[in-house]
Amino acid sequence: MAKLVKIAKVKDIQPGQAAAYKVEGKRIALYNVEGTFYATADTCTHWAAPLAEGKIRGTEIVCPWHGGAFDLKTGNATCGPAIKPVACFRVVVEGEDVQVELQD
Ligand code: FES
Repeated sequence: MAKLVKIAKVKDIQPGQAAAYKVEGKRIALYNVEGTFYATADTCTHWAAPLAEGKIRGTEIVCPWHGGAFDLKTGNATCGPAIKPVACFRVVVEGEDVQVELQD
């Protein structure tokens, strides 16, 4: 069953920035793209780089290690050497709270 878990406050991540959080045993990267938040697993599907340390390019995250990229809306790999998609999580902003939807 899905549940919403608070992971940050809106003011914690400025537009164009990302941060990683440990939530219920998972590392989740949260991105602020011009005021819209997206969340993915914080682990690149190529060699497991921390994606929150990458660069946001449009609505993609570019991996900090080898330049692979992922679409933040779908998780699909958009640039090699990454091939496999990264897990995405639905984000719900309620007031000042940023929440992600996790499965039990
Ligand atoms: S670890 Fe991300 S592209 Fe290699």
